[in-house]
Amino acid sequence: MKCAKTLKKNAEKLKQKLITAKALSRDYKAHIGKNHIYFPISKEIKGLDIVDKKCEKIEKINLNSGSYDQVGDIVILSQDAKKSDAKEILKRSNIKVVLRRKGNYRGEFRTLKLEYLAGEKRKETIHKENGVQMKLNPEEVYFSPRLSTERYRVTTQVKEGEKVLVLFSGVAPYPLVIAKHSNPKLIVAVEKNPIGHKYAVMNCKKYPNIELYNEDAKTFTYKEKFDRILMPLPKSAEDFLDNAKKLLKKNGIIHFYDFLSEKDIPNKSIEKIQKHIKNFKILHVAKCGQYGPGKLRICLDIRVN
Ligand SMILES: C[S@@+](CC[C@H](N)C(=O)[O-])C[C@H]1O[C@@H](n2cnc3c(N)ncnc32)[C@H](O)[C@@H]1O
Repeated sequence: MKCAKTLKKNAEKLKQKLITAKALSRDYKAHIGKNHIYFPISKEIKGLDIVDKKCEKIEKINLNSGSYDQVGDIVILSQDAKKSDAKEILKRSNIKVVLRRKGNYRGEFRTLKLEYLAGEKRKETIHKENGVQMKLNPEEVYFSPRLSTERYRVTTQVKEGEKVLVLFSGVAPYPLVIAKHSNPKLIVAVEKNPIGHKYAVMNCKKYPNIELYNEDAKTFTYKEKFDRILMPLPKSAEDFLDNAKKLLKKNGIIHFYDFLSEKDIPNKSIEKIQKHIKNFKILHVAKCGQYGPGKLRICLDIRVN
């Protein structure tokens, strides 16, 4: 497979360049090496480092109706998907369970009701992403496989020796991907859902530089301050900014997630941040997925002075 190669820290820049040139292949996954990342390409563009690399094919499922997510060996169909799709999906050797969403993410813990449709009678699975694996039950804890690219984008910004705080850490996808691909001194993760925390403890066993706390991010305190704080709770991250500010070093970075309509990006988020933080500089605005009709999930990377 022809791939465009770059250092991990330049991954986002190259990816955007390939998307703009309509040259990023959507049929294969990017290959992550020790220091470099390799993006599969559908056409060559001048001035790039092009090499041959083995990339994993993205297995797509054609449904009669609706969309789906794959978490480990579980396929989660959308609410409007037909039950008849389930049997067809189960013919794939890597799928063992088919579930269907009942409603949207809800409650403080952003969980999803899932109706059993076919396959093995379980809802727990092991999901692999960005070279790490996580055990989870997608009905009891929030997890979206659609955010893997965003998790890797943030990971490539983490510098050697940094102290990173991940608020709203769920089953620990951010801490794991950061620990695997960057070289921070410490990652502290805070999750209020006791079941999410329980899975995070299981998932992070092999990483001595990750500390996990089953606490409320609003009142969480720590013995030292952090170089970088991630706030992946787009629905209400603003409510936690006062505490995040207390936990951040001078000139530290916050990754602030929000849901906005296209026309409000990034002004509505800036207004929310300004209510709590006076001096900050926007480093980047990342669009990281659709959230319902007309709404996008965005991340503002800001440096706080
Ligand atoms: C949108 S999810 C993100 C989870 C994880 N970071 C991920 O990418 O999969 C937000 C998480 O914040 C947790 N949460 C909600 N309120 C919280 C609070 N006050 N303190 C700590 N965690 C909280 C939820 O239980 C949920 O796991």
